[in-house]
Order: sequence, then structure tokens, then C-alpha cells
Amino acid sequence: MEENKKYIHRIWADINSTGIDSIDNHHKKYIEVINNLVDILNNDKETAEVLDVFHKLLYYAETYFLDEELLYQRNNYADLTKHKQEHKDFIAEINHFRDDYQEKENTVCVRMMKYLDIWYKNHILIEDIKAVKG
Ligand SMILES: [Fe+2]
Repeated sequence: MEENKKYIHRIWADINSTGIDSIDNHHKKYIEVINNLVDILNNDKETAEVLDVFHKLLYYAETYFLDEELLYQRNNYADLTKHKQEHKDFIAEINHFRDDYQEKENTVCVRMMKYLDIWYKNHILIEDIKAVKG
């Protein structure tokens, strides 16, 4: 790996709190998984570690997205349908990356890192906060 290709760990900041502990904890967990991927990108990739990242992301999506959706539904969030679609798209995208990885497509980790960062900025920091705070 080239020296200038080092990735840095993402850090949770209180300013990004939704004000709801359970949702914040999901978001902190998400950052942990991103950081697993950062470590993989900064070191030699081990297949088992990459597969573990896929497993964690899909587990995260299947459990935490449902928790969120139930909460937003209870709060009568007006954009719930759009929000649920974004969750579905995330799951489809991660499955797509996993398929590419199994097809030995060697840019998967780098492309997925970009996607996870965009998701963090556009969904977690904007859509989830909008859903909670209105
Ligand atoms: Fe969400």
C-alpha cells in the first residue's frame, strides 16, 4: 500500500447526537464498523475481516433500521416511506458490494468506504436527524 493512501478513523461527535440514546448508539456502532474497514484498508486485507464487515453492516441494517422505522412510525414521521426506501437501498448496495467482493473485484473496499462515508453524511447526519427532530 502506498504511504499516502492512509485512511483515518472516524470519530463520534456529540454535536451529531439525535437526542435519542438508542439511535445515537446505532450511529456509534456504525462508526465502529467504518473504522474496521479503515483498518482493513490501511493494512493487508484479510478475507475473513472483510467478510466480517459485510456481516456487521447487514446485521446493523436488518436490526437497527427496523428499530428506527418503528420509532419514526410511532412519531408519525411524514417522510417515513422515503426514509424506509433509503434503508432498503443501503441493504441492496451492501449486498451488491458483497457480491462484487465474492467475484474478486479488487476495488470493493475502497468503493464501499466512499459509499459508507456518503451514507454517514447524507443519511445519518441529515435524514435521521430530520426524522427525530423534524
Ligand atoms: Fe435511517
